[in-house]
Amino acid sequence: MIIAIDGPAASGKGTLGKRIADHFGLAHLDTGLLYRAVARALLDAGRPLDDVAAATLAAERLDVESLDENRLRGAEMGEAASVVAALPMVRAALVDLQRRFAGRPEGAVLDGRDIGTVICPDAPVKIFVTATPEERASRRHRELVRRGEEVAYETVLADIRRRDARDAGRTSAPLAAAPDARLLDTTDLDIEAAFRAAVSIVENMTASSLRAG
Ligand code: CDP
Repeated sequence: MIIAIDGPAASGKGTLGKRIADHFGLAHLDTGLLYRAVARALLDAGRPLDDVAAATLAAERLDVESLDENRLRGAEMGEAASVVAALPMVRAALVDLQRRFAGRPEGAVLDGRDIGTVICPDAPVKIFVTATPEERASRRHRELVRRGEEVAYETVLADIRRRDARDAGRTSAPLAAAPDARLLDTTDLDIEAAFRAAVSIVENMTASSLRAG
């Protein structure tokens, strides 16, 4: 069973993806980490983020098994990731890797921006997770403060709005809900409630895809 979870920055799709994967005994890939790792490789090599050749090479050389999540999580990396993620060559270089991950016999949970639309358009379960920009900014702000980053809530909110606009406005695989995705608005849901809602969406969608079968 392939479960595609998409949504804007800090909508909670990563946490949900992990919980859903554990619950159903599936592997989980947070595809945002791939774009963050490409951006990290460029910054480490002293290259500008719009160096298409270097970014494409970094994407081609990525090893999913050795992503250092801790180095990739900060606010600066999210912003840098969204710049390289707008490069069509970078996106193209990462397609096979993501499809291979999804293609394992038991299936997998992938979360990102274009899983239901581009990477796994035939996934039987697609969830598009949303929340208001203010709620997402306050979640992300709490998370960054916990990591020890000193940043104002207003800065995080401006960052989220800018990233939403860039991710939804790019021409290559823009952030969008697939027509057959179920929307999950988590603005008023805590993690437990969002998790329960997502499990029930998965159960409903797998039941109806089996019926359609
Ligand atoms: O955790 P957060 O939602 O802040 O970010 P992320 O999921 O780690 O993604 C970082 C950036 O990578 C996003 O702003 C997107 O520009 C890009 N991305 C993408 O284009 N496609 C994906 N499947 C996943 C992430």
